[in-house]
Parts: sequence; structure tokens; C-alpha cells
Amino acid sequence: MLRYSFDKDRIKVVLLEGIHENAVRFLNESGYNNIEYYKEALKGDRLESIIRQAHIIGIRSRTELRKDILKKAEKLIAVGCFSIGTNQVDLYDAKMLGIPVFNAPFSNTRSVAELVIAEVIMLMRGVPEKNALAHRKIWMKTIGNAVEVRGKTLGIIGYGHIGSQVSVLAESLGMNIIYYDIEKKLNLGNAKPVSSLEELLKISDVVTLHVPSTPLTRKMISATQVRMMKKGSCLINTSRGDVVDYRAVAEALRSGHLAGAAADVFETEPASNNEPFIHELQEFDNVILTPHIGGNTKEAQANIGLEVAEKLVKYSDTGSTIGAVNFVEIALMPNCSSQRFLHIHRNVPGVLREINNFFSLQGINISAEYLQTDADIGYVIVETESELDPSTIEELKKIPHTIKVRMIY
Ligand code: NAI
Repeated sequence: MLRYSFDKDRIKVVLLEGIHENAVRFLNESGYNNIEYYKEALKGDRLESIIRQAHIIGIRSRTELRKDILKKAEKLIAVGCFSIGTNQVDLYDAKMLGIPVFNAPFSNTRSVAELVIAEVIMLMRGVPEKNALAHRKIWMKTIGNAVEVRGKTLGIIGYGHIGSQVSVLAESLGMNIIYYDIEKKLNLGNAKPVSSLEELLKISDVVTLHVPSTPLTRKMISATQVRMMKKGSCLINTSRGDVVDYRAVAEALRSGHLAGAAADVFETEPASNNEPFIHELQEFDNVILTPHIGGNTKEAQANIGLEVAEKLVKYSDTGSTIGAVNFVEIALMPNCSSQRFLHIHRNVPGVLREINNFFSLQGINISAEYLQTDADIGYVIVETESELDPSTIEELKKIPHTIKVRMIY
């Protein structure tokens, strides 16, 4: 019986923008040694000539993979965005070229949660103001409104990955946790859901936002909601800049209704460190302003390196698309049968029949078959009992509406 082997050295992996060494290590450990590593972002002709040779490309946020460049990447089977966001890639076009795109949505969850906890404590102790005064040579040793966080109520808006981590950490400090989410969620520890945003705002000593930017969340904290907050409470926003109307927050700080605030995200953020940052909250000493660094820690970078490399290896080794942001998701274990064929095609009637006909005409028995479709594409995985010569893959490619075919041994 023939036995073809999966030569991983044929798979060329290109990593750009100084991706964390964890990625290289994991790829090597998984048998992928044909790696080209660049510290910088690439564009134009340089990017084009490199991507033409790549089977897998890893980028961070500064390399743009637009339709024109993706179309030239004929060998490319997957893109890894070693980042949270994926705006730098034309996701739909990548999908229509049969290229799943992976990212690391949760690698910095804990980093954000820790910053929030630090801010809760700092704001409730009045530290930002005292710190600012001390820098201006003023000794302000007063108790003022300084309180412990123990026994106080933290209101979390959006009980997803970050919100629930904040909940766990804050509860260990002795805080009472309430949360508001539009989805039904599993309460962690003693956290309690409230039935409305209004209820949460009225009883929380600190309110922290962890929702995505959507039409529903846009300016969800405006003047009306700020007025509902307890007098002397604090607001923290590390989610997205457009979720809070900061002018309303500035008003409430000026009148003393709010005791403090922390903002890490803004509707308009400077594109680079060379651009100035101007904001209405800058006049307040009792506000912590940070330049969108909630998720920026060394650990988060290391986690991102590993998380995306794992997804890329899994896809290359098994065809599993779990965690792809632009693709139908199929979870697959390593291949137990002889060969596994991955067939990506336009989602039009009859393609599956053609694929099955192909194998039956070859006299090959299919031992397992998986199919997942969306409005645009279909992804079929066929496992066979006996082996086909690798050259037969060319025949599979001739099936009308085929986008990409790959064989894994
Ligand atoms: P997630 O998707 O896990 O959780 C979001 C939660 O918000 C979900 O439970 C969802 O049901 C809920 N939600 C959505 N619309 C809502 C509404 N109208 N009212 C109440 N709840 C609503 O997201 P994750 O990972 O927890 O991230 C949360 C936010 O943090 C996102 O906006 C993300 O962009 C931001 N983020 C900020 C970072 C930073 O550096 N400051 C780093 C990472 C994420």
C-alpha cells in the first residue's frame, strides 16, 4: 500500500512585524521549520514577492492584506492576525479565495481586567487627584472621599470575557458585583444580574463598561445615564470610545456628581505616538487617562503569539477552522484514516455531488465526510479508506466552482 507523508517543510510560513517568539517556538515544535521571519511590516512590491511564496502568513496590525495582494498569493492557505482586530485584512475577499483568517480575541482579556481593578482602587482612594497635585508640589494629605473597595458595589456593563474576569477579581477584593448584559450569562461567584441598565447605574459605586461597539451600545452612557449614577460614584471605560458621551461625563465631574473617571478608549484616537492627543477630560485631575493600553502587556503579546500559532498549525495539520473570523467553522481531530481532502468551493448546488462522484469513479471508499456552508462558500472534508496519488488533487480542482483543494495525509 502506498504511504505518502505530509512534508511540513514544504509549507512556507512567513511571519512579519516581529511576531512574538512563542509563535516561532510553537511552529517549530509542531514540525514547521520553513519559517521566514521579518521584524518589520511590509507593503507594496516587497510584500507581494514574499506573499507569493507563502503558504501561511502571520501579521500584526500594520501589514495590510487587501484584495489585490491576496489575489496574488496563490499558494496562501491561511492568514494569522497576531492581534485582536482583523481590520487590516479584507476578510470577505480572503474567504472567497479560500483563505481562513485567524486572530487572538481573548489573549489580552486578563490584562484589561487587571487595569480595571487597579483603576477601581485608585479612583475610590482619590489617588489620581492627589498624584497630580503632588507632581505640582502640593501636599494634599486628606482622607476626603477615600474609601476601601471592600463592601462597595461594582456595576459591570457587558458580562463577556473581560466583564466576567473583572467580576472574579473584584469579588476576591470583597466587592459586591452586579452586572447588566443583553444576553443571559452564567453568574460567576456571587455576581448578580440586574434587569436594566438603569437599575445598575442607580446602585453602583463604580460602573465599568465592557461591551462591544454596536448601534445599541453607541453612547449608551450619555447625560441621562450619567445623571442616574449615584452621587460620588466613578465611571470606567476600557471598551470602545463611542460607547460613552465624554462631554456628559465632563459635566458631571465639573458639578461634582461624579467623583472620578478612567478612560482608556476614545472616539478619535491618535494614529501614532507622534500625534497630539486632545480631549475634554484632560482638565480633570480626578480622571485617569490612558492611551488605549488596556490590553497591552508582555503577557498578552506572548499569549497572542501562542494562540494564533496554535490555530494556524491546527488548520494546516487537520483542516480545523475553529476560531476563523471569516470562515465556516469545522472542528476536526487529526486524521485517523488514510487521507483527508479539504475542498473549498462556491456555495452553489451540485458541488458535493460532483465531489462524491469523483471518489466513487476512482473506486475509493469515503470513510467520513463533513460539510459546512455559509451564504458564499462550502467547505467539505472527505476522508478516504485507501490512498490516492497526490496528483489526483488536480482532478478535484477541475470540479466547477472549486476555490481551493488541499490534501492532508
Ligand atoms: P465579549 O464579546 O466577550 O463581551 C461583550 C459582552 O457585552 C457580551 O456578553 C455581550 O452580550 C454584551 N453586550 C453586547 N451589547 C450589549 C448591550 N447593548 N448592553 C449590555 N451588554 C451588551 O467582549 P470582550 O472580549 O469582553 O471585550 C469587551 C470590550 O472590550 C470590547 O469593546 C473590546 O473591543 C474591548 N477591549 C478593549 C481593550 C483595550 O485595550 N482597552 C482590549 C480588549 C478588548
